[in-house]
Amino acid sequence: MRYLTIALAKGRLAKQTLSLLEQTGITCEEMKDKDTRKLIFINEDLKLKFFLSKTSDVPTYVEYGAADLGVVGSDTIMEEGRKVLEVLDLGLGRCDMCVAGPASAKELLRKNEVIRVASKYPMIAKDYFYNKKHQTVEIIKLNGSVELAPIVGLSEVIVDIVETGSTLKANGLEVLEKICPLSARVIVNEASMKLQRERIMEIVKSLKNTL
Ligand code: PRP
Repeated sequence: MRYLTIALAKGRLAKQTLSLLEQTGITCEEMKDKDTRKLIFINEDLKLKFFLSKTSDVPTYVEYGAADLGVVGSDTIMEEGRKVLEVLDLGLGRCDMCVAGPASAKELLRKNEVIRVASKYPMIAKDYFYNKKHQTVEIIKLNGSVELAPIVGLSEVIVDIVETGSTLKANGLEVLEKICPLSARVIVNEASMKLQRERIMEIVKSLKNTL
């Protein structure tokens, strides 16, 4: 039996996913060692391999088959646009992708003005403004602390994740439009789904049962 490889996004989501997997009887003791510098972990009995990667790289590993399965947020799946099969919504990390800004920007959105939109998610922002709203905007890619952009005058609005809304509130910003809800999903490589369907679906089904 060949190994099935599972890619997890480094951080809180990986920890939550591992605890879900543990409830299904899939454990990986090696991964619990906090001081380890190892990147890949093996459960020899179940013939499973796990690795942790940067969140945005999870869909890439899965598209190319370097991982058979992956667990990552739907924001990353949308932004990366990789060819993968989305098979299960784990419901973890629920939040929303939103257009946010100062209340004064509402009018600019309403009038379809050419505005600047800052985001860590340029593809999602582009799809929303160009394909859904048919509004011409200039998209500026940032790498974090996106809420700064409208405050310092880099952009009129931002496209970003809103979970509790406290970051927006603390910076005098608000949700202006909701783009879509987000949560963690299980993704599968297309060829693996054909060749290892039974084993993959067994994992997916047991994860589903724990939800
Ligand atoms: C995310 C997101 C918002 C914040 C939303 O940022 O980009 O800034 O969390 O959470 P809230 O609605 O509960 O305040 P993250 O902490 O990932 O850091 P970043 O700004 O560097 O991307």
